Amino acid sequence: MTVTPSSPARAAWWRQAVVYQVYPRSFADGNGDGVGDFAGILGRIGHLEALGVDAVWISPFYPSALVDGGYDVDDYTDIDPRIGTLEQFDLLVHGLHERGIRLIIDLVPNHSSNRHARFQAALAAGPGSPERDWYVFRDGRGEHGELPPADWRSLMGEPAWTRVPDGQWYLHLFTSEQPDFNWSNPAVRDFFTQVLRFWGDRGVDGFRVDVANGLTKRLDADLPNQEQLDDASAHAVGDHPLWDRDDVQSVYRQWRRVFDEYDPPLMAVAEAWVSADRRLRYTAPGSLDQAFGFDLLRAPWDASAFRRVIAESYDLADRSGAPPTWVLSSHDVVRHATRYGLVGAGDENDWLRSRGAQPIEDREVGLRRARAATLLALALPGSAYLYQGEELGLPEVMVPDDQRQDPVFWRKDGLEVGRDGCRVPLPWTTDGTSFGFGAGGAHLPQPSWFGEYAVDGQERDPASTLTLYRRALRLRRVLQVAESMRLLDLGNGVVGFERPGGWISVTNFDEAPVPLPRGEVVLASDAEAVRAGLLGPNATVWLTQNGVQAAAASRVVGGDPS
Ligand code: NOJ
Repeated sequence: MTVTPSSPARAAWWRQAVVYQVYPRSFADGNGDGVGDFAGILGRIGHLEALGVDAVWISPFYPSALVDGGYDVDDYTDIDPRIGTLEQFDLLVHGLHERGIRLIIDLVPNHSSNRHARFQAALAAGPGSPERDWYVFRDGRGEHGELPPADWRSLMGEPAWTRVPDGQWYLHLFTSEQPDFNWSNPAVRDFFTQVLRFWGDRGVDGFRVDVANGLTKRLDADLPNQEQLDDASAHAVGDHPLWDRDDVQSVYRQWRRVFDEYDPPLMAVAEAWVSADRRLRYTAPGSLDQAFGFDLLRAPWDASAFRRVIAESYDLADRSGAPPTWVLSSHDVVRHATRYGLVGAGDENDWLRSRGAQPIEDREVGLRRARAATLLALALPGSAYLYQGEELGLPEVMVPDDQRQDPVFWRKDGLEVGRDGCRVPLPWTTDGTSFGFGAGGAHLPQPSWFGEYAVDGQERDPASTLTLYRRALRLRRVLQVAESMRLLDLGNGVVGFERPGGWISVTNFDEAPVPLPRGEVVLASDAEAVRAGLLGPNATVWLTQNGVQAAAASRVVGGDPS
């Protein structure tokens, strides 16, 4: 399992980067209005530096009505005034670059918001106009066009077609406030290449492409119904009317030319919930660079599940030349410290639906496993994407229903609970107003126990999750010499692998202790779990078999393997 860059041009900074996701409205609030902002990020930039990340990905900061957490963009080349200004954005780019940290921003090309000037122009200009052709408008069915063009449901629960006052209908795969662009219109394509250049010229290093498996569509005169749409066997691979179409690659080929205008080229990572096999297309030469692999995030706490995902990911990496990406948490899923601590029948969706009643959440087990999973992922070749707050071991928050913001909750009548629980503003101090998030409140309610996870307390604690992350990131830089690894056979309940230079990572998923291979322990997710050559349950250790590396490693972590 060797992942080799396919050409020197592809041996780029992002291949082995640790990227930290900032959800800006919930990271830090500089002006005390309860909403995180650029001033807050600038004030906490030292946290990112001390953590040791290579890059930061910032979720949307554009002007927005916040129907979908900012993924409803009013203007692609401006900043939401609640978050800051373009001048502050420049300061942020500069401040990060000064510290050797790259910046990736979120690009949302499948849809804009309904407040975007182009959508407003489309509404004003009327049927058949070039303005309307920027989006997907259709006449309705029925005698007076009173029925939607098709019975499709959006991913947010509502019907996917909404009628406008002149009688036509527009398509939105998410909320009705997020109209889909018409990517068969060259003007839309030109517009987005200008957006790429706008941010490239401002110094960003890359883009996270939202819904990268959307964009192009095949909307024939006769639209299929929802049942036909859902029937995968009814569509040739790559020719589904809405999703993961082969022709979306023509968009990325055009973008690649823009990326390559920069030195080093801009990078792009695709958010595409597609099968592992189809993911290849998004990282092929001439397309984007990486695609998120969500398989580990979806895997249960189980050695064989983890082993399978790792093996498949490297198989894919060998075929594509693009390194795997490792993601355990994000702004869209229940935090991994909670997922791994759910005891009894059911999964995180059952837990959410029962408002935390079933399965039972065992925070201690969850945190142990989360720390172990993180060390495992950080030892693998490829890029690791961390989500803000996971470095504190934060569990998911059960936000009271009446304070939820996610449209998934409101538009699906509470049948799905939504994603607010991982978006609660971070605790920076053990007490004080909004636990140091800002001088005012917090836009989503923080629970009383949040202070236990605060940055300031953890900074002082050598056994804290924050200390573990800092050590792991520093060590990774020292130990990582090549993009390859070999899986070790250490028993069914164990995932172990070796990197060149004698760096070994071992995770015990079993209930009983397991023997460790020979080597010096340089980091452990749980110091207590390492005893007399054995590794206890729910823990990962990093060992090194090379004396020189061991010495370098102990200098990095100060000789304390906890
Ligand atoms: C994926 C984003 O991660 C999610 O938060 C958003 O709701 C959808 N795309 C729609 O933009």
